[in-house]
Amino acid sequence: MEALNFLAEQIKKCHLCRLGDTRTNAVPGYGNPESPVLFVGEGPGKNEDEKGLPFVGAAGKFLDKCLDSIGWKREDVFITNVVKCRPPENRDPLPDEITTCCNNYLKNQIRLIKPLLIVTLGRHSLELFLPGKKISEVHGKAMRTQGENGLQVYLALYHPAAALYNGGLQSVLLADFQKIPALLEQLKNTNA
Ligand code: URA
Repeated sequence: MEALNFLAEQIKKCHLCRLGDTRTNAVPGYGNPESPVLFVGEGPGKNEDEKGLPFVGAAGKFLDKCLDSIGWKREDVFITNVVKCRPPENRDPLPDEITTCCNNYLKNQIRLIKPLLIVTLGRHSLELFLPGKKISEVHGKAMRTQGENGLQVYLALYHPAAALYNGGLQSVLLADFQKIPALLEQLKNTNA
C-alpha cells in the first residue's frame, strides 16, 4: 500500500522527538497492510533498533510461537509499536514521545490499515487506547470503544516479553491468543 510505505519512509527519517537522536533504525512496522488484525506493542528494543523490524528478539520469537499456535504467521498480520524508535536503555517511552509519535504515525497507520481488530501487547499499548484499564482485569476480553475512525474493537494481551519474564503468563497469553480467530470471524460477519 503506497500511502503506508510513504508513511514508513517518513518514520525512518523522523526527528520529531528526542528518540530520533539516539536510535539506530526507526521501526515503522511489518506485515500485511490488508490484514484485519493490527498488533501494537510498546516500542523497539535493542534487536529491533539494529534491524529496523518489530519483534525480532526473544519476545518476537514468543510472539511467533503464539501466532503459530493459531495457524498464523507474522506475514498474515500487521505488527507495529506505540513508539517507532528505541528509548535509550529500554526505558519506558515518555508521555510527550508517545503523543508526538502516535499523532503523526500510529493514528495514520490505523486510518490506512482500517483493522477490524486491534490487539494491544502490554500495558503501554493498552493505556494508549483504553486509558485506566488494568491488564490483569481485561486481558483476553474483547472491548469496543470509540476510536479515531468510529467504533473500534480491541483485544488486550499481555506483552510477550512479560510472559518470558514471568513464565506463568505464557499459558495465559497462549490461551488468550486462541480467542482471536473466533473473535475475528464474528467481526467479519458483523461487518459483512
Ligand atoms: N517489544 C515491543 O514492544 N516491541 C518490539 O518491537 C519489540 C519488543
